Amino acid sequence: MLTIRTIEYFDSVSSTNDRLKELLRQSVPPQLPCLVTARQQTAGRGRGNKVWWSSEGALLLSLGVELSALSLERTHLSLLSLAAGLAALETIRHRLPEENHTALHWPNDVYVDGKKIGGILLESPTPQHLVLGIGINVNNRLTNIPTEFLDEFEKKPITSLIEILEKPTDIPFLIADFCERLSGKINQITTNPAELVQNVERCCLQVGKNLTIHQDHGVIQGYCLGIDQNGSLRLKTPNGTETIQTGIAVWGL
Ligand code: BTN
Repeated sequence: MLTIRTIEYFDSVSSTNDRLKELLRQSVPPQLPCLVTARQQTAGRGRGNKVWWSSEGALLLSLGVELSALSLERTHLSLLSLAAGLAALETIRHRLPEENHTALHWPNDVYVDGKKIGGILLESPTPQHLVLGIGINVNNRLTNIPTEFLDEFEKKPITSLIEILEKPTDIPFLIADFCERLSGKINQITTNPAELVQNVERCCLQVGKNLTIHQDHGVIQGYCLGIDQNGSLRLKTPNGTETIQTGIAVWGL
């Protein structure tokens, strides 16, 4: 069960992930799980050292958890990453009409009608601690995108709930819904991982497509067969079946 024990709310903060890591460094850290949320971030971070658009209206939150308290081990991290993406996807899908197509871009980017709406940044500041950051474009209008993001979003279009629904969504409700769904999926990691993987596979954009994946040590090309029990992508390549793992950013506290 993911019962939140500490909550911090900011009008503005550099990054909720960074604030959580700061809290974990304190001589008396907060009781975990700890949730940090903010109306806006001044230095929001995405995966791959990218800047995350974090203006007012977005859902911006980080959860600090201890692996053992969730009955998880480090071998479960890739599945946790997928579980968080799926929880975010379902939270969004639940608010949208059926004609809007929600999908997961492995490992955990959420797309609606081909445009990115949310993402997850999973960091591991100590072997036992995880900081799971999630950003969803909710009530932030695309007309207010700062100029430094325009080039990036032209290449990779994004969307937000308000652009689709034409009405604002209550962010505290979304946060509660996400946490509840995440709690169920964390449970599934140890009780029924096959079902979790199957649910991810069903909405995964890459499955059944030819992919080119850029890794630190080179490029792999192949046909995506699906996702294995560890949460890795299975690719059929000229050299046989290869698996691609998700990267979890490991940071010193
Ligand atoms: C991605 O798709 O690249 C992941 C984006 C994660 C953004 C969230 S917003 C809340 C938390 N704080 C951050 O600085 N980043 C994450």
